[in-house]
Amino acid sequence: MNLDAQQKAASEPYGNAKRRERPLVLPMLPSDVDSVCRIARESFTSAWTSAVFEGELKRQWAVIRVLRAGTGEKICGFIDFWIIGDEIHLHNLAVLPGMRRRGFGRFLLLDMFKIAKKKAVTSVLLEARCSNLAAINLYKGVGFEKIAIRPRYYSDNNEDAIIMRCDLVSF
Ligand SMILES: CC(C)(COP(=O)(O)OP(=O)(O)OC[C@H]1O[C@@H](n2cnc3c(N)ncnc32)[C@H](O)[C@@H]1OP(=O)(O)O)[C@@H](O)C(=O)NCCC(=O)NCCS
Repeated sequence: MNLDAQQKAASEPYGNAKRRERPLVLPMLPSDVDSVCRIARESFTSAWTSAVFEGELKRQWAVIRVLRAGTGEKICGFIDFWIIGDEIHLHNLAVLPGMRRRGFGRFLLLDMFKIAKKKAVTSVLLEARCSNLAAINLYKGVGFEKIAIRPRYYSDNNEDAIIMRCDLVSF
């Protein structure tokens, strides 16, 4: 995606949804672990446990951000990524099933890009199941491109992974 298209995506922070209040995205706190685990359980076949999320909170290079649809609302989405040098590896992104298609997934990614810019990150890498069209469309929409296929990457069903990268140099 070129710079113009990236800026256009960034200027439409939560899709076509017409909302009165902007979503709030904040760092995950220890008290958020249960809510985040619930979203993970409802979103992934092999979800991370609370112990894994608690471990992430202790890692200096891990960033977990939680999203609320508005002030005082419950957590309905989260993103987890690692910043290593000038690269981000995106590990987890999920929105509660009942809250999807409102632009929250995209909002979490754009929030990650803002952090990336502050930390002088030049690229973001991720892998997704090849069957996960919702995620692949979301990632393409904010500037990720396919760079490779990793055969049989997911051990639960031997599914291939699509590896995607977003180059932030011109962002
Ligand atoms: C992928 C996921 C995070 C998307 O969250 P979301 O809040 O629904 O996404 P958004 O509303 O921001 O959607 C942004 C764009 O993504 C694409 N998209 C999202 N859901 C889609 C779907 N079900 N089918 C096709 N495209 C979809 C669309 O291009 C959409 O833009 P549009 O609404 O203007 O058409 C959510 O579906 C989810 O939690 N899935 C389960 C966990 C998961 O697979 N995570 C990714 C792991 S790699």
